[in-house]
Amino acid sequence: MSEGSAFEPGREPAASAAPSPVAAARAVPRHVAIVMDGNGRWANRRGLPRLAGHRAGAQALERVVRCAAELGIEVLTVYGFSTENWRRPATEVRGIMHILVEFLRLKTRDLVREGVRLRYVGDVSALPAAARAELERSVRATAQGRRLTLVLALNYGGRWEIVDAARRLAARAARGELRPEEIDEALFGRELATGEFPPPDLIVRPGGELRLSNFLLWGAAYSEIVATDTLWPDFDGDTLRWAVAEFGRRERRFGGLPGR
Ligand code: FPP
Repeated sequence: MSEGSAFEPGREPAASAAPSPVAAARAVPRHVAIVMDGNGRWANRRGLPRLAGHRAGAQALERVVRCAAELGIEVLTVYGFSTENWRRPATEVRGIMHILVEFLRLKTRDLVREGVRLRYVGDVSALPAAARAELERSVRATAQGRRLTLVLALNYGGRWEIVDAARRLAARAARGELRPEEIDEALFGRELATGEFPPPDLIVRPGGELRLSNFLLWGAAYSEIVATDTLWPDFDGDTLRWAVAEFGRRERRFGGLPGR
């Protein structure tokens, strides 16, 4: 899907005068989630190794975090490494982990200065020790950030998250701490790795593909999805503002009827 004529950087959609519980379209989504796709193609087109694309992707992340904080977005979740990305060549996996470590080492101070709190979701026990250590250090260093929460999804998969929650609830039930009939959507949702965050209002997919790729499957139930052909390394504040403006034009009904 191309941005085409819809691209109007800086144009803020008008906030609805009287938000109703059904069509409560906020001008700015509370939670934006991004599938950072297109790094490899960006590099290929320039005759560069794929890792150069991932490196440029980390720079795009820096730009987008800054813009998200300026826009007043509360939570920004980015898909950094999926449970399926281990299928890539070991050199690429190692390279991505190295870029992650570098990003955390070099950028944590900026995150603190910009009021960004860093969190992560995913089974990070499988990540290299250096990545785990830098993650914990950044989480601690940024804990007081109040402008924006940046959530890195690492060794994350929507199916993993659901199975992980189900397993923990089943264990509690087996210990007699929980009756199965007590499990409802609210309880299940709180048990998820992403349970501390609101569900994503807007999922942005750069790179031209139209699929969720196992991202935030539970939370995505009523997310608005905006896709663009822009490759992730070319993504910037204008692209984010365009996606947010697209979101503002959507009517969110959550299964209800318009205007009710
Ligand atoms: C998908 O693009 C991207 C990834 C699998 C890795 C994303 C990693 C980064 C942006 C590096 C920095 C990450 C953090 C969290 C600092 P792709 O390689 O599938 O692109 P393609 O579809 O064009 O091949």
